[in-house]
Amino acid sequence: MTREMGKADRMIELPQEFFDDPYPVYARLRAQGPVHEVRFPDGMRGWIVVDYEAVREVLRNPTVHKELNPALEVFKRAFLPQDRPKRTFTRVASHMLNTDPPNHTRLRKLVAPAFVPRRIEALEPRILAIAGELLDRIAEATGPVDLLTEYAFPLPITVICELVGMPVEDREQFREWSNLAIDNANSSKDEVQRAITGLEDYFDQLIERRRGEEPGEDLISALLAATEDGDRLSHDEMVSMLFLLLIAGHETTVNLIGNTVLALLTEPEKYRALHGNPDAVPGLLEETLRYDSPVNLATFRYTTEPITVAGTTIPADQLVFCALGSANRDERRFPGSEIFDPDRPQPNHVAFGYGIHFCLGAHLARLEGRIALTELVRRYPDLRLVEGAQLRWRESTIIRGLRELPVEFASA
Ligand code: HEM
Repeated sequence: MTREMGKADRMIELPQEFFDDPYPVYARLRAQGPVHEVRFPDGMRGWIVVDYEAVREVLRNPTVHKELNPALEVFKRAFLPQDRPKRTFTRVASHMLNTDPPNHTRLRKLVAPAFVPRRIEALEPRILAIAGELLDRIAEATGPVDLLTEYAFPLPITVICELVGMPVEDREQFREWSNLAIDNANSSKDEVQRAITGLEDYFDQLIERRRGEEPGEDLISALLAATEDGDRLSHDEMVSMLFLLLIAGHETTVNLIGNTVLALLTEPEKYRALHGNPDAVPGLLEETLRYDSPVNLATFRYTTEPITVAGTTIPADQLVFCALGSANRDERRFPGSEIFDPDRPQPNHVAFGYGIHFCLGAHLARLEGRIALTELVRRYPDLRLVEGAQLRWRESTIIRGLRELPVEFASA
């Protein structure tokens, strides 16, 4: 009892405003120390690691884990019974990002060839064509448009659907199910369960259909044929792998594009300066990745034994959240860290994670970001934010991204 009360006393309650602007909270936490026990606004308890070096220390520590089933038990205990979410995890979530070695090593090896730089660079003409088609459609708009819905979202989705081999026309249904399955605070248990069953049935049927078809150039064909050292993915492993890749394609690059455009349009001369200067785009994207990291908080792990991180001991059986968005603002690593400065030398941020789970799609995300931004500026040098538009952020412990980005064009 006394110990529980002592723990509660030390625990920091993260305020609801954390979602709108986590950076002042991160700065306060960093000023107090690298590691803290916290309670999130939804009632979940865990430990948050906020310094650059401490985050890297956790992410390379082989005694902290990701494996799904034990993680779910730790996750359940991280909530008081009345606060527990309606989430029902299933085989779609048993993917590589939720596994430890040796299983993780095996799964990653089977899918990694599709994401090597040479394979990704070959996608450039197709990504350019998709960007062009979306920008043509925007040219027909007579008033303000939401740049996320019309451009930043459909671009990476179309790319990942084609790369994986999922029919692009199914993407709305997929998005509806995955939103319900993942971000389910406002939906009933039945709705969540129906969405998960919908996703599983969808992938079962897609894989079975593709098994009977001529192999194409896509990843499903490659995975069905893969025999790396005689190894291949089982049907269930394939279901969860496709789910992971499609979720990663749906939820991340959209915010790299959105957060970069927002940073530029907040100081419009920065946006205009890009016109005729496409070489500046990669540096800008790297600075957005650091300054407003699209995967901001929940690179979570759990402990099975006590670990000491930067001098603080985290007990066994705890959730540990590596706050990438905070690590990337650590003043000791990035002097002047609260300033958006695309000219800063070699940032070496952790926006794509660190260690064995380092983002598999980093090359793809950078290529999509570069093409999206270069083409947008080339076609619309006079883009601006809609005056007085209320910018709202998504309420997520994972993603840092706007709900919409209303823009208008002086000319098209
Ligand atoms: C893992 C960020 C785009 C596929 C990760 C992780 C981060 C991340 C932080 C590590 C999570 C952890 O350690 O817990 C991002 C950002 C992106 C992006 C910021 C865009 C700007 C993509 C894309 C794909 C992708 C386009 C492609 C399909 C993956 C996969 C993993 C991963 C498969 C798991 C790797 C593993 O477990 O070994 N990503 N990602 N990501 N990402 Fe990305």
